[in-house]
Amino acid sequence: MNSNLHSESAGYTRVDDAAIGQFQRILGVECVFADTETRTQYGHDETEDLSYPPEVVLKPETPNEIADILRYCHERLIPVTPIGARTGLSGGALSLYGGVGLSLERLNRILNIDTQNLQATVEPGVITQVFQEAVEEHGLMYAPDPASRGSCFIGGNIAENSGGPRALKYGVTKDFVLNLEVVLPTGEIIWTGANTLKNSTGYNLTQLMVGSEGTLGIVTKAVMKLVPKPAHNMLMLVSFNSAEKACEAVSAVFRAGITPSALEFMERDAIDWTLKFVDDVSLPVGEEVAAHLLVEVDGNNPEQLMAECEQISALMEEYGATEILFADDEQQKNALWKLRRKVGEAVKAHSVYKEEDTVVPRYALPVLLKEVKDIGRKYGFQSVCYGHAGDGNLHVNIIRGELSEEQWNVTLEKGIREIFELTASLGGTISGEHGIGLVQRPFLDVVFSSTHRNIFQQIKQAFDPNGILNPGKAI
Ligand code: LAC
Ligand code: ZN
Repeated sequence: MNSNLHSESAGYTRVDDAAIGQFQRILGVECVFADTETRTQYGHDETEDLSYPPEVVLKPETPNEIADILRYCHERLIPVTPIGARTGLSGGALSLYGGVGLSLERLNRILNIDTQNLQATVEPGVITQVFQEAVEEHGLMYAPDPASRGSCFIGGNIAENSGGPRALKYGVTKDFVLNLEVVLPTGEIIWTGANTLKNSTGYNLTQLMVGSEGTLGIVTKAVMKLVPKPAHNMLMLVSFNSAEKACEAVSAVFRAGITPSALEFMERDAIDWTLKFVDDVSLPVGEEVAAHLLVEVDGNNPEQLMAECEQISALMEEYGATEILFADDEQQKNALWKLRRKVGEAVKAHSVYKEEDTVVPRYALPVLLKEVKDIGRKYGFQSVCYGHAGDGNLHVNIIRGELSEEQWNVTLEKGIREIFELTASLGGTISGEHGIGLVQRPFLDVVFSSTHRNIFQQIKQAFDPNGILNPGKAI
């Protein structure tokens, strides 16, 4: 377990009996948890093996309760960390300074699905997949689909601006958020915008909230855009004997005028480890295979999709594809998607690792992959890469393997910095969809000048003058 940073020397107040009493008055005794087991449970997310327990876990149910909690914590300088489903990969939900862990799990209702306007209003604790399935019953689609969609919350997706495979054609979380109800750290409740597709009215506070990692306010309602659900999709798995060639094929698809609904890349190790990790999917993988692309197209016209698949197949062969497997039915499609979604967990089960969520303009993907491997050789680490190739978003998983304490804890940081300098030099940045959170903060200077970071600080100050909300994160 990591030890929390010392809250008092940072100017914060510890959660004392008076605070517990106040929280119990606001929420009722049954929604205030100060026991070690609950605190430990809410002290970690999916980021490495990090653990920073809050001093107390609170489970409010309404925006007004949250407002009362925040107003009190603002006055008493008690840090508050918003907590969703704890599936994050950058440590955004860790209670670095202890304080209050504010769980949004009881705000879990889909309040309205507006089929006239293709919008829905949801609370932050709704599980992403539950939301997707609810709108699908109306023939609609909520496209962002992080690998953790079966457990992650919409609120967490908004906090981190999550993506996932289908973000490629339809957009990431930010592209689906129209308007947000937010409780400010000072206790006021605001709506950030309007429930409209267009809005040129003032500063865009809605988009400022998206990806702000719970440092500016607590989202308590979100109005989300929906799109009609395409009637058909087709999925193919393409093998390559060269991972770089697979990456080169990616941008060629878009240049040919096709926008797949997903275009995922997986290196050989990612597939092998995942096949071992999930016991109900089997897939013969030839000895020479170095990487796979998983390509999905969707739409309403099956003939057109077939034509696109043929065009994609021809392109893939030009780039040296050795085998193209079409998923015949829903069962095969689900199996391939399961394989893809489980890669992250499989890597985690295989070895201690660090994940870097690199992203570059799509055409630079082959260079990124090649140079990441070169940097690995220079610093002596092995990496397993996979991710949303169509978005230029490559998850670089650095494997602990045989690295010594010194190499893992000291030298590696230099290697990671080099990887980020590389992404920046290619026109990219240091996180595509996992956020900065806690673990990428040391590298912010790679992409932001001091002028830029000053602006961040001033925005933070405007929302949260006492700095109580998720301190130590994002900026
Ligand atoms: C994925 C998660 C790790 O793409 O973002 O599987
Ligand atoms: Zn991802």
